[in-house]
Formats: sequence, structure tokens, C-alpha cells
Amino acid sequence: MSSSAYEIIDTCEKIDFQKVSDLLRYYGLSDLDSDTQRQVFQNSYVTIFVKKDGELIGVGRAISDGISQGAIYNIAVKDAYRGKGIGKRIVDEILKRLSGCNVVLYTHPKHIGLYEHWGFRRMSTSYARFPEEKYYEQEGFFRE
Ligand SMILES: CC(C)(COP(=O)(O)OP(=O)(O)OC[C@H]1O[C@@H](n2cnc3c(N)ncnc32)[C@H](O)[C@@H]1OP(=O)(O)O)[C@@H](O)C(=O)NCCC(=O)NCCS
Repeated sequence: MSSSAYEIIDTCEKIDFQKVSDLLRYYGLSDLDSDTQRQVFQNSYVTIFVKKDGELIGVGRAISDGISQGAIYNIAVKDAYRGKGIGKRIVDEILKRLSGCNVVLYTHPKHIGLYEHWGFRRMSTSYARFPEEKYYEQEGFFRE
């Protein structure tokens, strides 16, 4: 990814959250409306937005205490810009801001392997509790 071609933004002020909401909904990562999505990102410890010629083409965020623990969510890159290293740049920018922290994440079963690019390893002791448990069960998030 040539960094000059893309703008990396790590604050929420000038972001159109309707665009964020649309992007995350399109990929089935979140169905929150734009105001709620703004809250979610503003309440996150790290937010990364990628723009090209003013257009929002990628997002990602992490919640964290900033010292010891962090968790990554909502990594997405617009279809037209896939395979150009933008997803990698988003995760790199997040990890840079979580330096020294244990970082965890979970992904959709179809993306198993993706995060191994950054040295993430599958855990044998993780647990999760979701209000919409049925959906996660159907999609194959849980071990038998
Ligand atoms: C996943 C996603 C963010 C990757 O973005 P991207 O900009 O195309 O990724 P990059 O070009 O930076 O690729 C990074 C590396 O990950 C690999 N990769 C990309 N998607 C992958 C997937 N689904 N599974 C495994 N590896 C994947 C690429 O081949 C590349 O590997 P390389 O460096 O060895 O060539 C993008 O495909 C996306 O937005 N998907 C829909 C949203 C989504 O499902 N996000 C959730 C992930 S939890």
C-alpha cells in the first residue's frame, strides 16, 4: 500500500458515521444505526478510518484500557480496494496504538487464518457470551 495515496485518520470528529454504518452493515459486521455507531467508535480506545480522495474506504477499532488489554473489532475495507494492503495497514495502525497490550479478537469462521498474518494464534481457553447467541451458533462461532 502506498501510504501517500491513502489518508489514515484516528479521530472521529470529521467522520461521516452514516458511511461507517453502511460499510459495516454491508459486510454483516454490525447493524447499528449511524448515531449508535458514532457512540461505539467514540467509546473505543483506538479508531482507524482510511480515506481515498475524501471517500471512506476502510475502518477498524479496538477497545482497550490502554495499558494491558485490548480487543479488535469491525475491520472492513470496501470491495473495490481489497487486496491492496489496506486491511493490513488498519490492523498495523491499531496494533501500534495497543503496544504492550495482550490483544484478542474473534472473527467470522470464514476469515479464520486472516489474523495469523499479524501473529495472532488460536486460543484453546477463550469464552464468549453473546445476547444474540443463536446467530453466532448458526454461523459456526462456537466449538461443540
Ligand atoms: C478482511 C478484509 C478487511 C481484508 O482487507 P484487505 O484490504 O483486502 O486485506 P489486505 O490487502 O491488507 O490483505 C492482508 C492479507 O490478508 C489476506 N487476507 C485477506 N482476506 C482474507 C481472509 N478472508 N482470510 C484469510 N486471509 C485473508 C490477504 O491475502 C493478505 O495476505 P498477504 O499479505 O499474504 O498477501 C476485507 O476483505 C474485508 O473488509 N472483508 C469484509 C469485512 C470482514 O469480513 N471483516 C472481518 C474480518 S473479522
